[in-house]
Amino acid sequence: MGKGIFSLDEDIKKILVTEEEVRRAVKDTAAWINRTYEKTEGRLLLLGILKGSVVFMGDLMKHITLPVEIDFMKVSSYGSGTATSGNVNIILDLMRKDIDKINIIIVEDIVDSGVTLSYLVEYLKHKGAKSVATCTLLDKPSRRKVPFVPDHVGVEVPDEFVVGYGLDYDEYYRTLPYIGVLKEEVYQK
Ligand code: IMP
Ligand code: MG
Repeated sequence: MGKGIFSLDEDIKKILVTEEEVRRAVKDTAAWINRTYEKTEGRLLLLGILKGSVVFMGDLMKHITLPVEIDFMKVSSYGSGTATSGNVNIILDLMRKDIDKINIIIVEDIVDSGVTLSYLVEYLKHKGAKSVATCTLLDKPSRRKVPFVPDHVGVEVPDEFVVGYGLDYDEYYRTLPYIGVLKEEVYQK
């Protein structure tokens, strides 16, 4: 049976980041980008990582006052809970012939182990990008398996699995306008 959309809210145990706090983090991130790249030469590209970053990207881009392009990559990382480093699979790549003229800002929903973004930054630099920076809406610094510090963090969150505002559990809950923690019973379904 399909999951009724109106039941999603009821599965949330607590709200970690409210809609208002998300809005503020989005504006902070946009202000950081506008400030940092104001005098930068070359083109500017917001590169969203599918699917989790789509909601953040959609809100963020509206507050960028510089000329900017958007694009997306899709990756999957198979880092098990105990592995020291995961493998990152590129499912949808960035195809650009002029990558040497592009300043890339990776837009991510959350940094957890750090495996995905540390890999992607190196990958894009290796491809010849003019510059590569990272911004993430959420950061769980206590969970790192590899050393990685994003250039901009919206909100730091504790070591809890979170959903909403693009982030999913089993592909659901991305549609919630806030960031929350699920009730334990949801994982037992
Ligand atoms: P990392 O390579 O471990 O940093 O993986 C980051 C990716 O794992 C994110 O882009 C999310 O897709 C996923 N992820 C990590 N923590 C959470 C969470 O708490 N909720 C939902 N997805 C998460
Ligand atoms: Mg993601």
